[in-house]
Amino acid sequence: MERIQKRIASCGIASRRKAEELIKEGRVKVNGVVVETLGYKLNPNDEVTVDDVVVSKVQKQYYVLNKPRGVISSAQDEFGRKTVLDCCSKEILKDRIYPVGRLDYDTKGVILLTNDGDFMNRMVGPQSGIQKEYLVRIKGVISQEELLKLEKGVIINGHMTLPAIAEIDSIDRKNNSCLVRITITEGINHQVKEMFATIGHEVKKLTRVRFGNIRIDDLHEGEVRRLTPHEVKVLFELSKASKVLKKERRNY
Ligand code: URA
Repeated sequence: MERIQKRIASCGIASRRKAEELIKEGRVKVNGVVVETLGYKLNPNDEVTVDDVVVSKVQKQYYVLNKPRGVISSAQDEFGRKTVLDCCSKEILKDRIYPVGRLDYDTKGVILLTNDGDFMNRMVGPQSGIQKEYLVRIKGVISQEELLKLEKGVIINGHMTLPAIAEIDSIDRKNNSCLVRITITEGINHQVKEMFATIGHEVKKLTRVRFGNIRIDDLHEGEVRRLTPHEVKVLFELSKASKVLKKERRNY
């Protein structure tokens, strides 16, 4: 038997947490009767409605976008700025997809899009240890000691970051800058910029080059492509795999 919030999330109406709110607000009915019990178990033929609209299974869709800078990674923007959904065709938007996690307005690179609430929770929830790899253009040339600090963990807003992998990609001595490749497994707000701030380096440009097994290489900026069933399967597997980052296991 399926739990009610799972059914709502799997229909693309809302994330599981949002589904719980809808239930608590009394907006969910099963066979015409309001159900306010979280975890209520459904029979396969039960009809579920939200605000009296039947929720029916939609085909789950998964995409990757190479987000350009200057695009907001939410579904709407109160200031009318371009959003990640503005990068998608009408055909794609028919399935009510939304972004998986966030990238800053001035960050570019891999962002996934889906209408699968369960997938979304697994990719960005606190338990998800999915690797995110970034190329970071910073002010100044980073030292080995500083790289080690980033790898071991630094304190941002009272939280010690989990182990990371950090290495120099290239050094531009003329412009007193360097490019650092860093892989992290958490998704704290502005995490990469905050991590570099703790060691005194300002981030000038940030690009997410990988999310789990998904790389940006084959996409132009602003381009979207559908993930293959195999890629989606691997993402689910990665979300269940060990969260411990090991330097020698960088095999993507
Ligand atoms: N870390 C940041 O600081 N910004 C992003 O957009 C992603 C990770």
